[in-house]
Amino acid sequence: MLIKTRRDGFNHPAASEITPQAAYRQRRDLLRLMAGGAAGAALAAWASREAMAAVQRPGKLPALPSQPSAVAGAVTMEKPTPYEDATGYNNFYEFGTDKADPAQNAHTLRTAPWAVEIDGLVKKPAKFALDDLLKLAPQEERIYRLRCVEGWSMVIPWVGYSLAELVRRVEPLGSAKFVEFHTLADRATMPGIRSSVLDWPYVEGLRMDEALHPLTLLSFGMYGEVLPKQNGAPVRVVVPWKYGFKSAKSLVRIRFTEQEPKTAWNKAAANEYGFYSNVNPDVAHPRWSQATERRIGEGGLFAKRRKTLLFNGYEAQVGQLYAGMDLKKNY
Ligand code: MTE
Repeated sequence: MLIKTRRDGFNHPAASEITPQAAYRQRRDLLRLMAGGAAGAALAAWASREAMAAVQRPGKLPALPSQPSAVAGAVTMEKPTPYEDATGYNNFYEFGTDKADPAQNAHTLRTAPWAVEIDGLVKKPAKFALDDLLKLAPQEERIYRLRCVEGWSMVIPWVGYSLAELVRRVEPLGSAKFVEFHTLADRATMPGIRSSVLDWPYVEGLRMDEALHPLTLLSFGMYGEVLPKQNGAPVRVVVPWKYGFKSAKSLVRIRFTEQEPKTAWNKAAANEYGFYSNVNPDVAHPRWSQATERRIGEGGLFAKRRKTLLFNGYEAQVGQLYAGMDLKKNY
């Protein structure tokens, strides 16, 4: 998710500072090989610590209903990405800009006590303790594709309920046109906050009809387990037809507004990251084509790239939201 290094002192890491997936996988495979061979006890311990960080599992969620979700498009039949890839290759800049940083560093995140504040243009502003939020509506499994603007994708079985369940309980006013998501920015526990790569806290937003769409998920878990910290514990949003950066992690506040939210990535580079950020193979990012993608965990370095689909393949469900809009202008 990186943006170009600028000469004006705004300190974005250069793309070269971010481990590309190929290099990351090579390093991980190399570490495993070394751990298994005669590379010495110290290296083996180091390698197994790295592997542990990626696969430490945070605990089971209560049993989920066995019926498939009634929400159209909620369960793709594609093969889920291996757990260790989904939890070891992450963007969570509050914990560093390298893909391996969140798995290494996010253990410092304190997820209890946790509350999410709802404010702005609503009849019933509230502060929900996590326990109350967990029980607000029945949770279900949604198997979504997630497409990152950097050109890779995953398939992840999330657990949660439609954000609309929460929205309707707080009764937005007629003047509320957008929903703004604020995520935790805690210097004490998030080492990445010291960098000025983004204007913290990480803020994202949706138009009200997007927030109310049943596919927009408030998620508390993945792979039938509690959300790992590196994936945005204890609560995040997942918006499957938009680039991954719209899916804000570790939410602390949801604000209803009349104005289009000023999002963190849009503030950092407006020409690269628009407000809508719908997955669209026909609208290239200024530095990356969006026509194809690499599915993480699929076939290693030489795997064939897949064609990226409009709205990440969710056109039948969400296309109507954008009827008549110029998607090149509203990128
Ligand atoms: N949320 C916060 N708070 N901070 C972040 O850096 N990165 C985004 C998004 N949510 C990010 C965030 C990006 S760029 C992506 S691709 C997804 O999280 C990655 O989610 P995952 O690690 O669960 O796959």
